[in-house]
Amino acid sequence: MVRPARTPDVRAVRALTAPLAERRVLVAKEAVAYYEGLPELVVAEAGGRVVGCGALHVFWEDLAEVRTLAVADEARGAGVGGLVLAELLHRARDVGVARVFCLTFETRFFAAHGFEEIDGTPVEPEVFAELLRSHDDGVAEFLDLARVKPNTLGNTRMIRYLDEDARAHDVARQRLPRTAGGTSPGLPGAPGGAGQTGRPGQRGSA
Ligand SMILES: CC(C)(COP(=O)(O)OP(=O)(O)OC[C@H]1O[C@@H](n2cnc3c(N)ncnc32)[C@H](O)[C@@H]1OP(=O)(O)O)[C@@H](O)C(=O)NCCC(=O)NCCS
Repeated sequence: MVRPARTPDVRAVRALTAPLAERRVLVAKEAVAYYEGLPELVVAEAGGRVVGCGALHVFWEDLAEVRTLAVADEARGAGVGGLVLAELLHRARDVGVARVFCLTFETRFFAAHGFEEIDGTPVEPEVFAELLRSHDDGVAEFLDLARVKPNTLGNTRMIRYLDEDARAHDVARQRLPRTAGGTSPGLPGAPGGAGQTGRPGQRGSA
């Protein structure tokens, strides 16, 4: 069963995600961040135990990220991750988002769920500038900022389009997913990009 997380689930979620964060498979977060992010978190429960979790974090009007997606070792390969992801994509549709980003080593899993590999940061330069104001490490990873480079090494950037118009729009802007158009030219005109090191009003790490 996949359901919205409740505060008593946070300990189990942290236990699931801590070893993955240590290996830099997931973004490391302070305990308080899990409580603050509770409304965006779902858990998969089996036999009264939390065996999986995942969250949908909205970045912008038409953009969200799947994060904190993890399944307990002993429960993997049985469809739990797929159910959690399906719930997060359902939430994305519900809140009006048609582009769902993820940064992952699990490319086969995400590709099986309709995600496509991308290069660059598929947002308008104005939106990029606004996102730079975020204090969230996931946003920094999406923007590919230098300060999070050690976290992103070896990961693949992927996106799932929930409607064809959004995809057609990005294709027209030459944000071609590699799978659809060969080598992507990345995002033309995005300020900063890989070389960006700071954010306006930065308060330190999230
Ligand atoms: C990615 C992850 C969440 C997938 O969880 P999972 O529960 O194993 O996922 P599923 O069982 O839905 O799918 C995994 C595979 O098992 C297969 N599978 C699904 N149901 C199955 C079943 N009943 N019997 C056997 N295999 C099955 C799927 O076809 C899938 O195969 P694939 O590798 O070819 O895609 C899990 O591997 C994980 O926690 N990884 C580490 C954290 C991470 O990288 N998260 C993503 C970054 S946000």
